[in-house]
Amino acid sequence: MSDIVGSSFGHVNPKRHYIFDLPDARRAAICREDFWVPHPAATYLIQKINMMLEVENKTQAPCMVCCGDGGSGKTSHVNRLKQEVKSWDKKLIFVTMHQNPNNYSLKQLILSAMGVDFSRQARAATNITPQMQAIIKRDNIKGVVIDEVHDALTLTDLQQRINLSLLKNLSGSEYGLSVFAFGIGSAQKVLRADPQLERRYAVHDIKPFSYGEEYRNFVSSYVYNLPLKYRSNIDGELLLLLHKKTHGLVDNIVKALQASAAYAVLNGDERIKKEHITNVDVLLDMFGMSMSSYD
Ligand SMILES: Nc1ncnc2c1ncn2[C@@H]1O[C@H](COP(=O)(O)OP(=O)(O)O)[C@@H](O)[C@H]1O
Ligand SMILES: [Mg+2]
Repeated sequence: MSDIVGSSFGHVNPKRHYIFDLPDARRAAICREDFWVPHPAATYLIQKINMMLEVENKTQAPCMVCCGDGGSGKTSHVNRLKQEVKSWDKKLIFVTMHQNPNNYSLKQLILSAMGVDFSRQARAATNITPQMQAIIKRDNIKGVVIDEVHDALTLTDLQQRINLSLLKNLSGSEYGLSVFAFGIGSAQKVLRADPQLERRYAVHDIKPFSYGEEYRNFVSSYVYNLPLKYRSNIDGELLLLLHKKTHGLVDNIVKALQASAAYAVLNGDERIKKEHITNVDVLLDMFGMSMSSYD
């Protein structure tokens, strides 16, 4: 069945043809599910991180703070990196300050991600530094990725100082780990207000798409993966309108395309139309979605 149907949907990624065999309600729901679309700026950042990890025997491991507004794609980059690093020989550990139900400190999150027992008893009994060093060596851990780092840096002054000194220790000679910190702009301000860290941390901005080729390619690749029966006419007018409505913020672009596609399945349009984008706020509301405000 899939093969016969598949052959007539040349405008859709063959890997997604199986979705045409599902009921329309399910197909509409799948239109609103997230998937990753590679684009040059993301590939560049992941390559940069890979290259930074190649450097050995530095007194201080190279670190980077990756800044972007909410919805600019930071967490998606982190998740993508998590996937890609599986095929690398060097390893990264991942922590996120957000969604931290146990209210662990940054240090506890890092220890827990490494599998170190950091209970009070364990700490009282031993100095954990050698244990951490052994795990880093055993697992070939080269860096720590922290998502939502602003949550660690915009706490009380005392917590902020503790976390900044932890970041210094991690990348110093004792551990030699590169730190990749993802967060909103205020994170950069805090990190770079410290003269020692300022020298250590490169800054990478995760920006909205400007109206140009990368944006056009991203939209085309995204639409290629949406299971709609007819080819959408993604012309200059639609692209410009979409850019105007979304300000090029990836979260908004993705939501607008997802809601339009889901609507197009349910009402039988089966393609993304300009009028969907014109009325995108109504469509988003219909599915309980909303765009990030962006000034
Ligand atoms: N390369 C990409 N391909 C497809 N969707 C993406 C991509 N980058 C981001 N998105 C989508 O944009 C939305 C917001 O991204 P997110 O990473 O959560 O932003 P941030 O962490 O900066 O707030 C998510 O729904 C995500 O799926
Ligand atoms: Mg995020």
